[in-house]
Amino acid sequence: MASQKSAKEESYVFDRNHAATSRLNYQYYLWQNAAGFYLHPDIPQLQPNAQVADVATGSGMWLLDLASSLPPTTRLTGLDISLAQCPPRAWLPHNVQLFSWDFFTEVPVDLVAKFDVVHIRLVAVTIRNNDPTVLVRNLARLLKPGGFLQWDELDTPTAHVTVAAPNLETEALEQLRELLISPMKGRNGETLLGSRDWIQAIPENLETNGFCDVRKHTYCEAPHMGVFWNDVISPIVWTFTANGGRWVLSAEEFADVMLKTDDTVKEKQLRSMALRASKESDAGAAVRYGKMSIIARKL
Ligand SMILES: C[S@@+](CC[C@H](N)C(=O)[O-])C[C@H]1O[C@@H](n2cnc3c(N)ncnc32)[C@H](O)[C@@H]1O
Repeated sequence: MASQKSAKEESYVFDRNHAATSRLNYQYYLWQNAAGFYLHPDIPQLQPNAQVADVATGSGMWLLDLASSLPPTTRLTGLDISLAQCPPRAWLPHNVQLFSWDFFTEVPVDLVAKFDVVHIRLVAVTIRNNDPTVLVRNLARLLKPGGFLQWDELDTPTAHVTVAAPNLETEALEQLRELLISPMKGRNGETLLGSRDWIQAIPENLETNGFCDVRKHTYCEAPHMGVFWNDVISPIVWTFTANGGRWVLSAEEFADVMLKTDDTVKEKQLRSMALRASKESDAGAAVRYGKMSIIARKL
């Protein structure tokens, strides 16, 4: 684990504390519930000695669950700019390893063309310039020729607010939806929360950067799960805050990170939006959006 934080790591918009890790893991289980697979069925069954990488592994949960579904002869590697949210190395299965790596930098030589499958999920907030090409090329470099990429991301343009009954208030949830689909600018005009347009163009980007057989699969949770997803994207969890309310945690985390940018006006707006969205959600409204898994084969 890197002892000193890089500028990139400093600028990551979410926290790495217990609440943030809980959010990540809760989101992980909801995602699995919606998707119903670890590896999409388009990816052929792995050989017993297959090598799998999970880029931006977060808490490592996907990788660890996948490990328990594969023979112990497979090798699984988790990569992230920070491993602070992962379990201690001593508690990992013997065939799982973790490395720190900033995916905007050169692929370490010993990882080049090493993997049969590379998985990446939910890195939208890290692409600030609307162009994931550096990342896409690095993902290709990790794969063996013929290896498969699975890229899971929110299908953000599909985001919409739904209500369980007519005439419910949804103003703050609409603001939250807007936050999900648009880049957010800081006081100095810099992008704080990653741009989104590039997400729709991932298939074309893959095709021009070393991949073929690109397929995009979309899916969504069942309507009754929408409220739990709302807890995540928002995400609203029960926390015993000063005013004892339900808080919109990722917006909260984001606001906390924004404290570092000293944008108190935006921070106040976000905190207020988070609280109002939480109340609207309690009354029976939710932001829903599709999820997608893009599968591609390295040329
Ligand atoms: C929203 S989390 C998703 C984690 C995990 N994939 C999941 O679905 O639960 C985004 C992850 O990207 C990682 N990340 C952010 N910037 C990165 C970078 N430049 N290089 C590698 N990982 C990065 C963060 O540390 C975080 O673990």
